[in-house]
Amino acid sequence: MRIVSGIQPTGNLHLGNYLGAIRNWVAMQDKVTAEGGECLYFLADLHAISMPHVPADLAANTREMIAALVACGLDPERSILFNQGQVPQHAELQWLLNGTARMGWLNRMTQWKDKAGKNREGASVALFTYPVLQAADVLLYQATHVPVGEDQKQHLELARDIAQKFNNDFCTEDAPLFTLPAPFIPPEAARIMSLRDGTQKMSKSDPSDMSRINMTDSADTIMQKVKKAKTDPEPLPSEKAGLEGRPEAKNLVAIYAAMAGSTVDAVLGEFGGEGFGKFKPALGELLVEKLGPINERFLALREDIPALDAILRKGGEKARALGIPTLQKTYDALGIMRG
Ligand code: TRP
Repeated sequence: MRIVSGIQPTGNLHLGNYLGAIRNWVAMQDKVTAEGGECLYFLADLHAISMPHVPADLAANTREMIAALVACGLDPERSILFNQGQVPQHAELQWLLNGTARMGWLNRMTQWKDKAGKNREGASVALFTYPVLQAADVLLYQATHVPVGEDQKQHLELARDIAQKFNNDFCTEDAPLFTLPAPFIPPEAARIMSLRDGTQKMSKSDPSDMSRINMTDSADTIMQKVKKAKTDPEPLPSEKAGLEGRPEAKNLVAIYAAMAGSTVDAVLGEFGGEGFGKFKPALGELLVEKLGPINERFLALREDIPALDAILRKGGEKARALGIPTLQKTYDALGIMRG
């Protein structure tokens, strides 16, 4: 098995990122590397320039994010951790795949439509070809599985389409070049919502800091945010179905279940019939207990810039060694001579 996944270096990691993606990356690292497979996890700094950005912030966020990933349990000795910028082969392969990807395929991408909005003429070309770079990210390493959230499934299907068409067009049937990557959407990948509005995703761009729990939040801040989280006046139901139409209650229970490594049913078994006056302190304490050690490691690591840069550099070296042979075969398949 070869696992490859990326995350945009937005900075300010929050509980939504942790429960939605990173926790699963750690679990896969622990399982897959023990079985002799490889995990490559990277910060998608090349993708970040598809939207307006501040260069100094991008560099700072990339470092902050690698500190957060390591603090959450990703181990640079077992997983290959890097930022895309260290591995020019991503961008090279993207260019080669641009010959295979079709305009029509990219035009159908919902993320492109959402992010470009009404102003397609003013959107960057990088935003349009973003999914081709994402395909290159995984095809370069012959990824077998790509852990992603539901929202990235369409991009993964596109990567498979590109791989398939390239194999058809430029390889013989018995020697396809690219492995078709399978999206892996962990069933328990919780979609964590805002603490102020249970219908909105928890997000670093929400103007209210009370809407999210940040990796940098102290124990007091976490307790405060949970206490002030929006709820309804009803007690908790004893079964899952009773959470329908109660997005805030549903979200808090889902957070509890995810943090406890339990299930929504089990949490309701314990707290069904109780009001939020009892549930919220229990949730706050659980969060403090689980996030405290991560927070502590993060704050210390964040200061050690030479160590962070060394992790990215070494990870980049290992990633290049894995990716270069596939890139060379791609050039060969296309009839492009080098050296
Ligand atoms: N587009 C992904 C996101 O926004 C990040 C990403 C970039 C990615 N390249 C990837 C995810 C390759 C999986 C595999 O979440």
